[in-house]
Amino acid sequence: MKKKEPAQKPAVEIQDVSYETESVEEHANVLFKPNPGPQTEFLAASEREVLYGGSAGGGKSYAMLADPLRYMGHPQFSGLLLRHTTEELRELIFKSQELYPKIWPGIKWSERKMQWTAPSGARLWMSYLDRDDDVLRYQGLAFSWIGFDELTQWATPYAWNYMRSRLRSTAPDLPIFMRATTNPGGRGHQWVKKMFIDPAPYNKAFDATDSETGEVLRYPYGHSKAGKPLFKRRFIPARLSDNPYLAQAGDYEAMLLSLPEQQRRQLLEGDWDIKEGAAFTEFDRRLHVVEPYRIPSNWVKFRACDYGYGSYTGVLWFAVAPSEQLIVYRELYVSKVLAADLADMILELEAEDGNIKYGVLDSSLWHRRGDTGPSLAEQMIAKGCRWRPSDRSKGSRVAGKNEIHRRLQIDEYTEEPRLVFFDSCTNTISQLPSIPLDKKNPEDVDTKSEDHLYDALRYGIMSRPRFSIFDYDPMGRPSTGMRVADSTFGY
Ligand SMILES: Nc1ncnc2c1ncn2[C@@H]1O[C@H](COP(=O)(O)OP(=O)(O)OP(=O)(O)O)[C@@H](O)[C@H]1O
Ligand SMILES: [Mg+2]
Repeated sequence: MKKKEPAQKPAVEIQDVSYETESVEEHANVLFKPNPGPQTEFLAASEREVLYGGSAGGGKSYAMLADPLRYMGHPQFSGLLLRHTTEELRELIFKSQELYPKIWPGIKWSERKMQWTAPSGARLWMSYLDRDDDVLRYQGLAFSWIGFDELTQWATPYAWNYMRSRLRSTAPDLPIFMRATTNPGGRGHQWVKKMFIDPAPYNKAFDATDSETGEVLRYPYGHSKAGKPLFKRRFIPARLSDNPYLAQAGDYEAMLLSLPEQQRRQLLEGDWDIKEGAAFTEFDRRLHVVEPYRIPSNWVKFRACDYGYGSYTGVLWFAVAPSEQLIVYRELYVSKVLAADLADMILELEAEDGNIKYGVLDSSLWHRRGDTGPSLAEQMIAKGCRWRPSDRSKGSRVAGKNEIHRRLQIDEYTEEPRLVFFDSCTNTISQLPSIPLDKKNPEDVDTKSEDHLYDALRYGIMSRPRFSIFDYDPMGRPSTGMRVADSTFGY
């Protein structure tokens, strides 16, 4: 270790500097060894903000305690580990008292300061942050590592966002990190889900977005990296089975198994998707979300769209497998896009898809606006993006919902669901499980919820998709694409 240097001014942006020091494992000489899988990935993660979340007992808090230890040899390291209240903090302090002195002999705990100080001078403060005002305790301070244990205990993203402003490197060779662990459920379930779980497939880094607008956070105008994404986030799922220290005993799992369904799914299975009053409680990420693969060219493909200019437009692309399973392989979810521009976007996205057999679009788009001009559907069709109208007859909403339920079930022959989504369809995957039932009519979903992708899904599923290699047109010729028979419908 270098000799002690005078405190340096916090430098900005040192994210890419690789910080070479002994790893916790090397130093600890197997006093601490991360469990293989997610716990190791969490400790090795390079993204600025990482959430390690899921099943109870997966080893999350333990990993959180171990994470700052690697910097304890650096004289300028200053870390902050937070819990929501002082009582909860106690538990973490006990654990740290077992672990830390084994790994860094000579490290000292000060009860008065609630702080660990290593012989190098490195410090780790263990503290609480309950009410929003408590952030003022940290005003004017800088930390290169900030951890929140049990993040969903914070009801809003206020504390997390505020503490980001306290994150500054305290030395050029110290990278900056925010780390969180949590179970699903709890007061902050929704904002945590929105910030960390919904934007990307599990375990994949993504550009951090604003917690309210959903827009990517970017370097401001005038900065040398102006316009570039500010930093990355990642969600690492935790399972009880990853932690042999608890999983092998079996008793803990048995206890979790005995919980009521909602809690069981959150605490044992680490399921983020369940919500009371939701219409599609059977949706299960482990069954219905798959990693993208190349779709064979002979599978039928089609798309469906629900258009909204002021709100959102949702477009979904489907493929039909020989087993008749439907695969939603792409989504487009945009706002404030004119119909003619949408047509261009769609055609560009599907340019490499091969034959798109047909498209289904909300039938109200054939309504003429004013006296003259073409309808929105006609404008798209004129661009070569062809559609036929969705079924809007009485009862079609309920029939569509029932058909989605049927499709989500496991087919007894294939032992797979009849509908799956590529994990890249992040908006659909986040919205479908949280669409609420209509309180007045439980046969249908609440139409006031965010439902453009749901409607697109319904239109697509109700278009009677069939897998068929040999598809003939009315003249008996093998079909090669969408035929234009009608200038209004495009068919
Ligand atoms: N790498 C490890 N080495 C040794 N023991 C471990 C390791 N990981 C976890 N453990 C043990 O497993 C116990 C449970 O882990 P931990 O408390 O971190 O789980 P958790 O995911 O935070 O649980 P909860 O969801 O209940 O907060 C720890 O107290 C610790 O004794
Ligand atoms: Mg914990």
